[in-house]
Amino acid sequence: MGKSSKDKRDAYYRLAKEQGWRARSAFKLLQLDEEFNLFEGVTRVVDLCAAPGSWSQVLSRILIQGQRVGRAAWEDKRYQELLRLRQADLTGDSSAPETDERPEVRPRKDVKIVAIDLQPMSPLEGITCLKADITHPSTIPLLLKALDPDYNSTSSPTEASHPVDLVLSDGAPDVTGLHDLDIYVQSQLLWAALNLALCVLKPGGTFVAKIFRGKDVDLLYAQLKIVFEDVTVAKPRSSRASSVEAFIVCTNFRPPKGFKASLDNPLGAGRKLQTDTGDVKPQRTEYSRKLREDGITELDLGSDLEEEEGEDIRWIAPFLACGDLSAFDADASHKLPEGHVSLDPIQPPTAPPYRRALEERKKMGGAYGKTKLGGLPGG
Ligand SMILES: C[S@@+](CC[C@H](N)C(=O)[O-])C[C@H]1O[C@@H](n2cnc3c(N)ncnc32)[C@H](O)[C@@H]1O
Repeated sequence: MGKSSKDKRDAYYRLAKEQGWRARSAFKLLQLDEEFNLFEGVTRVVDLCAAPGSWSQVLSRILIQGQRVGRAAWEDKRYQELLRLRQADLTGDSSAPETDERPEVRPRKDVKIVAIDLQPMSPLEGITCLKADITHPSTIPLLLKALDPDYNSTSSPTEASHPVDLVLSDGAPDVTGLHDLDIYVQSQLLWAALNLALCVLKPGGTFVAKIFRGKDVDLLYAQLKIVFEDVTVAKPRSSRASSVEAFIVCTNFRPPKGFKASLDNPLGAGRKLQTDTGDVKPQRTEYSRKLREDGITELDLGSDLEEEEGEDIRWIAPFLACGDLSAFDADASHKLPEGHVSLDPIQPPTAPPYRRALEERKKMGGAYGKTKLGGLPGG
């Protein structure tokens, strides 16, 4: 598939190049922000599984450069629409031009952003990039040290201060196409991200992570609901409807009394949260229906799905599609604007897993898609 046909088939791929994002994933975070206002009052962020770095770019543009993208851009757009309507009421001209009035760009003070990935990431000003495996226990001291140079690596992670406002994880393994295996590997990344988040989040903090909605995802929701006040499954418009991908948005971190994050005994599927005083289970609640301020009805199934005392407890998190309704549909093909010129991606992968295969193929005299069979062993 050529570049321009990909531009047509994936509007977000084209827009990412036009707006200077390293990956189309940037739009997923921006659309999550439109709905959840993720960055209000935030100065310390950990971006897990961050390469090639489009989420880190979003963080940099909003927190370090003070640009109005995401929620702020959406608010500006609504403000302009209101102005236009008011002007039309006064003048009868509904095509009144937009005003240039823009709120001031205001970078934040004392911003700290740490990005981690298995792959090397091209540097971004003001962001500390670590090349590490988030599933490995040695990563947590690295992260704590990056956040706080005074952190003493001999003390346990739980003795470190809890300085982070927001932990993001867009982790995805190389997909094999074997659905159950992909979902399992993805869930392991998610548990690793959650265990890291539990060690560094401050009370009231937010955790956002990619999930693949598999069979037992409700067990995960139930566990998250113990440590976060609100847990929502969100699907940005830029995430293809045909994919099982979604994002879990957990706000207001409030660990149970006595809870200690532990990487020696990390949290995972089938293991319960523990406090000094024993296991913690979700509180039994009545079925309840709550109409939220934004008009969404939230159905709380509580723990009624628990079959017997001691069995795993399931809980269904509310589901929310997010992103402005006028945003592009990620599954549709779009007509390209007149005179469209296809651009190169902003940041080619630094160490793609297929690099070695390409090198080997070149050595054997093969071209892209045209391997000389004679060059292959036994060919
Ligand atoms: C979808 S990409 C992330 C895109 C990124 N959010 C952005 O906006 O550019 C998924 C990333 O997860 C990383 N990853 C997968 N397993 C990992 C692990 N165990 N530790 C750290 N990173 C991992 C991959 O290297 C890959 O870069």
